[in-house]
Amino acid sequence: MAQGGLNNASSERRPIPNPNGKFVDTFARRQRIAQHRKSLPIASVERRLMEEVRNNDTLIIVGETGSGKTTQIPQFLFNAGFCREGKTIGVTQPRRVAAVTVAKRVAEECAVDLGQKVGYSIRFDDVTSGSTRIKYMTDGLLLREALLDPYLARYSVIIVDEAHERTVHTDVLLGLLKNVQIARSKSIGYQNTENNKPKNGMLLEKENGIQNSSFLKHDQGRMFPPLKLIIMSASLDARVFSDYFGGAKAVHVQGRQFPVDIFYTHHPEPDYLDATLITVFQIHLEEGPGDVLVFLTGQEEIESVERLIKERVQQLPENSRKLVTVPIFSSLPSEQQMRVFAPTPAGYRKVILATNIAETSVTIPGIKYVIDPGLVKARSYDPKKGLESLIIVPISKAQALQRSGRAGREGPGKCFRLYPESEFEKLEDSTKPEIKRCNLANVILQLKALGVDDIIGFDFIEKPSRSAIIKSLEQLFLLGALTDECKLSDPVGRQMSRLPLDPIYSKALILASEFKCLEEMLITVSMLSVESIFYAPRDKLDEARAAMKCFSSPEGDHLTLINVYRASNEFMEKRNLSFGKEKADKILRKWCKENFINSRSLRHARDIHSQIRRHAEQMGLHIASCGDDMLLFRRCLAASFFLNAALKQPEGTYRALASGQAVQIHPSSVLFQTKPECIIYNELVQTNHKYIRNISRIDYLWLTELAPQFYSMQS
Ligand code: CDP
Ligand code: MG
Repeated sequence: MAQGGLNNASSERRPIPNPNGKFVDTFARRQRIAQHRKSLPIASVERRLMEEVRNNDTLIIVGETGSGKTTQIPQFLFNAGFCREGKTIGVTQPRRVAAVTVAKRVAEECAVDLGQKVGYSIRFDDVTSGSTRIKYMTDGLLLREALLDPYLARYSVIIVDEAHERTVHTDVLLGLLKNVQIARSKSIGYQNTENNKPKNGMLLEKENGIQNSSFLKHDQGRMFPPLKLIIMSASLDARVFSDYFGGAKAVHVQGRQFPVDIFYTHHPEPDYLDATLITVFQIHLEEGPGDVLVFLTGQEEIESVERLIKERVQQLPENSRKLVTVPIFSSLPSEQQMRVFAPTPAGYRKVILATNIAETSVTIPGIKYVIDPGLVKARSYDPKKGLESLIIVPISKAQALQRSGRAGREGPGKCFRLYPESEFEKLEDSTKPEIKRCNLANVILQLKALGVDDIIGFDFIEKPSRSAIIKSLEQLFLLGALTDECKLSDPVGRQMSRLPLDPIYSKALILASEFKCLEEMLITVSMLSVESIFYAPRDKLDEARAAMKCFSSPEGDHLTLINVYRASNEFMEKRNLSFGKEKADKILRKWCKENFINSRSLRHARDIHSQIRRHAEQMGLHIASCGDDMLLFRRCLAASFFLNAALKQPEGTYRALASGQAVQIHPSSVLFQTKPECIIYNELVQTNHKYIRNISRIDYLWLTELAPQFYSMQS
C-alpha cells in the first residue's frame, strides 16, 4: 500500500529532524512545507505525469530549475504505487551534494528519518536501509550497483536526473539502463533460443542493430517487471535523449521565471576574484534586500573568497556588517551542506559561494542577485598524450543562462556577468559532453566488469573518440587490469573494478598490499582524494609556511601528507576522545587551525580512509605498515604511479616521461626548492603553466625494474 507521508494524519505531529539534526516540534513548519509543495509548478500536473509514466516505459521530463522535479516526482511515484512489493525508486544525480541535500529535504517533507523511507547513497557514505523506497544516489554509484545486481532488480523506476549535464557517468548509465530495460522486458524469453545462448556465462544478443544486454548473466526463468525509466533535464535539449531511446515521449513542465536584468563589465577583468569581491560589496552596500549567489570554480577559490569577504566585512561601519557567507561545493562534509538552505537571519544578507553545483542541481531559495565570472573547472583530456587535467574554462551560453536564471525564481533579479557582452557572444552554445573530454579508463573498467567486452561497439549516446578509448584501454593494460586479449584480468582487474577509486589508485592499494606498506598507501590515497590539505592565508604566509615545515618530508609530498594525517591521529588519540563526534570535531578543527591545515579536507580524508580501509579488508588485502622503511614506500609509489614519472631537464623544468610534456613543480610542493632528478606526481594543473602537484622523489632505475611493461618498451 502506498502511503503519502504528508497525507498520513497519524504522523501529523511527529517531530522531524531539522537540518542541524535537532528535533523540533514543527506543526507550523510541516504546514509551511505542505503549502510550499502545493505551490510548486509541478504540483498541478501530478496526475498527468503519473499517467504518462504508466503509459510510457521511458519518459523524458524537461522543466525549469526549481519547478520541483527532483523533490516531488519520486514522491508522486511512491504515492502512485510504484513501490509495491518492496520495490525502490532510484534517483541518480551527477553530484554528491545534490543527492544528499535533496534526500534530506524529501525525508523532511515525508516526515521520516533520513535513511528510512527516504535515503541516499554516495561513494563513501550510504544512508539507506531495507525500508528505503526513495533512494537518491550519484550516477556513478548506480553503475557500481549494476556490478552486483545486473538487472537492477530492486528498482521499479529509475530517474536519471540532471541528464543535460552529460557527465561521463550519466552517459554510460543511459547505455546501461537501455540494455537493462530491454533485458528485463524479455527476461522470460531468454531460454533456449539459438541466438541467445549464453557464452562464457554471459548473454550475447543482437537485435534491431542494438548491441544488447551483453553484460547480463544468463538468468534462466527469472521474470522481472519492466523497468520504468525517467530522464529529467533542466534545459530544452530533449531530442537527443528521445532519439537515443527510440523516439521516447518528452513532456515539458512549465516553470515560473521572473525577469532578470543582466549587467556586463565594460572590459575584461584581469582578476576575476577581485572583481567578484568588489561586486559582492557593491551589491551589499547599494542594492535592496536579497541574497547573493556567486559562481566560483572550486573549493580553494571558494575558501579564499570566503576569508577575504569576512575580513572586509570587519572593515565596514558597524551597521553595514550584516553579511553572512555560506560555501557549497561537492566535497563539503554533508553536515555542513544544509546550511545554504537555512533561512537568512533577519536583517542579514547571505552570500552563497558555490561551484556550478548551484547552476541546476541544487535550488537555493531567497536569491535575488547572481555574480557570474563566467568560468568553470572542467576536465580536459588529450588522448594522444594520455594526459588528463583539470582546467578553468569559459562556461557555455546555456550555462550562463541557467546561472542568471537563479536570480529570478522568486521575483525580479539581477545578474552581474564579470565579462563584457562581446565575450558572451563568443561562448559556445552548450557544453561538450564530458565523455568527449575525459580519460575513460575508469568507465571502461566498469563496463568490462559488467561483461561489455566490445567497448568501441557499445551503444553510447555519443561515442567517445576511438583514440580516447584505445588510449584508456592501453592504460588499463599497463596497470595490469586487462589481459593480452583485452579481457578483465583476474584477480587484479576484478579487484580494481571493485574499489570505488580511480584505477591508478586502486592499483596502488593492490600493489601496496604486496609491498607491505598498505597502511601508508591507504592514508596517501585518502589524502590525495581531497582538495588542498594545507592552506596559507595571504596575510599569514610566513606562519603557514613554518607550520608546513613541521610536517614536510624531504622525500616528497606523499610522505608529508602521511605525516599530517598521523600527527592529527596522535593528537586525537592523546586526548582520548571518547566524548562524542561533535566535541572531537571541534578539537580537531582547533588543531587544524593552529597548524594551517584545512579541517574540512582533513576530516573528509579521514572519512575516506576508514571506508577504503574497510574495502581493503573485505577484499583480503594485507594491511601492514612499512615502519621506517621509506625507501620501500617510495618504491611502491614508483611502481604505482609510473605513468606519471618526470625527469629533470637542464634548465630546471621537468619532462613527463609518458607524454613528453614539459611540466613544472608547483610552488606548494615540498620539493619545489630541491628539485630532485626523477619524480612521480599525482596531479597536473593547467593554468598559464603546466604545474604538477603531489610529488615524490624516486630513483630513475626503479622505473625499468618496477614497470618494465612500460619502460622497457620506451627505451
Ligand atoms: O528539481 P527542480 O530544480 O525542478 O526543483 P527541486 O530541486 O525539486 O526544488 C523544488 C523546491 O524545493 C525549490 O523551491 C527549492 O528551493 C526547494 N528545496 C529546498 O527548499 N531545500 C532543499 N534541500 C531542496 C529543495
Ligand atoms: Mg532538480
